[in-house]
Amino acid sequence: MSLQRDHKIAVLVSGTGRHLENLCRLAADGTLGGTVTLCISSRPGVLALERAASAAIPAVVLQKEGVESDRAYGVRLFEEIRRSGADTVVLAGFLRKLWIPDDYRGRVINIHPSLLPAFGGKGFYGHRVHSAVLERGCQVSGCTVHLVDDVYDNGPILVQRWCPVEPGDSADTLAARVFEEELRALPEGLRRFWAHDS
Ligand code: GRF
Repeated sequence: MSLQRDHKIAVLVSGTGRHLENLCRLAADGTLGGTVTLCISSRPGVLALERAASAAIPAVVLQKEGVESDRAYGVRLFEEIRRSGADTVVLAGFLRKLWIPDDYRGRVINIHPSLLPAFGGKGFYGHRVHSAVLERGCQVSGCTVHLVDDVYDNGPILVQRWCPVEPGDSADTLAARVFEEELRALPEGLRRFWAHDS
């Protein structure tokens, strides 16, 4: 039942928007099981906004600067999300703490570039994650798609995919290998979420 529904997704970004582009491509192919109805960026002028425009996805910029609290910022964000009709929210490189209202609790999904709970939490984002993995001498890394709760990188896990750490890896080469897994993991996580969504 839920698999046949065309889910509506709001994608929240702060940067390059490769996941946004991938989700839009899969949605257009009809292989995602959902449609991207809105992109919200916490930063102006980022590549993600250009990718949203290329895919003809409505986009808004909502900056946290000047907003008095996480909650007030979340209220503004979710007003836009509600208006778009989205039933699912994806954080794809969204670098802001998110307050979630009751009607969207359990409906917000994040992708993180490590095998959580390792290398997660405040301060672990982007290349910091991969540098920490290399410094620790890990032999595997990967990515995690999970539901978002009130704690950074903490909610129930939907999908994990792993890859080897190769000798001589830099944060860049490891990030690129992990990202290949991320491109598969996020759509897989969304499908798994919707399959159990009544
Ligand atoms: C990804 O590596 C994701 O795991 C992390 O932020 C990055 C987003 O990349 N949360 P992009 O903006 O989709 O290119």
